[in-house]
Amino acid sequence: MKTVKNMKKWFTSLTLLGFVLAVTFNWSLLVSSKKPSDEEVAYVDDKARHYSETGQERLLSLAPSAKVHQDITSLDEALLKIKNLEQRLKDIEFRIPKKYPEVNFLTFKDRKRILVTGGAGFVGSHLVDRLMMEGHEVIVVDNFFTGRKRNVEHWIGHENFELIHHDIVNPLYIEVDQIYHLASPASPPHYMYNPVKTIKTNTVGTINMLGLAKRVGARVLIASTSEVYGDPEVHPQTESYWGHVNPIGPRACYDESKRVSETLAYSYGKQENVAVRVARIFNTYGPRMHSNDGRVVSNFILQALTGQDITIYGSGKQTRSFQYVSDLVDGLIKLQNSNYSMPVNLGNPDEHTIEEFASIIHDMVGGKSHIIHKDAMEDDPQRRKPDITRANHVLGWQPLVPLQQGIKKTVEYFRRELMRSKHSERNLHDPVEAGNLRKALSNGVLTDV
Ligand SMILES: NC(=O)c1ccc[n+]([C@@H]2O[C@H](COP(=O)([O-])OP(=O)(O)OC[C@H]3O[C@@H](n4cnc5c(N)ncnc54)[C@H](O)[C@@H]3O)[C@@H](O)[C@H]2O)c1
Repeated sequence: MKTVKNMKKWFTSLTLLGFVLAVTFNWSLLVSSKKPSDEEVAYVDDKARHYSETGQERLLSLAPSAKVHQDITSLDEALLKIKNLEQRLKDIEFRIPKKYPEVNFLTFKDRKRILVTGGAGFVGSHLVDRLMMEGHEVIVVDNFFTGRKRNVEHWIGHENFELIHHDIVNPLYIEVDQIYHLASPASPPHYMYNPVKTIKTNTVGTINMLGLAKRVGARVLIASTSEVYGDPEVHPQTESYWGHVNPIGPRACYDESKRVSETLAYSYGKQENVAVRVARIFNTYGPRMHSNDGRVVSNFILQALTGQDITIYGSGKQTRSFQYVSDLVDGLIKLQNSNYSMPVNLGNPDEHTIEEFASIIHDMVGGKSHIIHKDAMEDDPQRRKPDITRANHVLGWQPLVPLQQGIKKTVEYFRRELMRSKHSERNLHDPVEAGNLRKALSNGVLTDV
């Protein structure tokens, strides 16, 4: 028995010795080989970069110039191998579970199951970021008509997150505590694309969401719009103003169906005791806006970034007031969790003419674009400015992000989007940073973002 043990020991020691010798021998070979000069290393680096940028790595060892430098060829090969290995590592990294932003932990008492319809859209995805960061369980329902998976891709796979491909015109049976009902095309080209579908989404879809809220006892927030005021005769618009909408104009499919959506909410509130919140959202902008939705901010930024003329429809004297998306998200969450059930305007009262917007964006982006005028659009409201006294009073809410800072963030986003050339590039947007923007501004920590 003892002899066997001794033999095992000897065998292990011999194997170890062999291994050490082999390593030492290879190492000495490596260190004794000619060390290339700095110029040679720089030359090979340069070649490797050139071939990898042009997708011709395999030519590296065949290049005539590389052949002249025989001793460098081995270095070429090594570099090539390293490059290949790096690429394989990237591929593997792509497959292993992702890292998620650090979300808050809520106990079962405080954690809510929250449904966000239209959560893959522009506003919805920012709302999802905020709710996820707060530690809630979030279910996104979207038919991807104008939304994109990419807007929420950084949460896919997270234990608190679920994405459901579903059209809200069809009933939905799930269990939730709160609903943010945002699903609806929101910009003129999108809602005019299929007016009947827009009406169905805002009527039948809203009935489905209110019905769900009734069944499971959830509270529901309806994303209404300043368009319920139409082309207003009252300025600024307060919630008590009933509006001035053309019921058969090109915008009617959206304006009127949103008005019905509000009526439905209050009918379910009164008749079925559903807890409803109604947010009348004014023009909002920020990263993840659609690049082809024809809205003023995205249009102007994209035209400026691509060196095209910046087009103003009409005189340019018509006014708009734009709020940055993180301000809106803050207002939506405050409203949902308040005990106030009448409609609340959420918008930025800082009013500018369209002409002013054009020159702010023109100056910020630089470039050679000219500002030009085209014919006015039909039923284009002349003035739009929210009166936010109610939001301030009942929610303690007001927008914080100044126009210049918001525009700067949005320009950065579109610049990155224009540079993007691959589908697989991960969404660079950082929800932590976005959530912190408003917080930092409200604490006076940030002056420039
Ligand atoms: N962005 C603004 O300036 C603004 C202003 C006023 C009101 N709103 C309202 O806010 C909400 C969100 O607007 P947004 O700017 O994020 O628009 P968006 O188009 O980016 O988002 C809407 C989302 O709803 C989804 N959707 C549309 N129809 C659907 C259906 N039938 N079933 C399921 N999903 C559907 C879309 O795919 C998209 O993801 C909308 O209700 C809009 O009316 C927005």
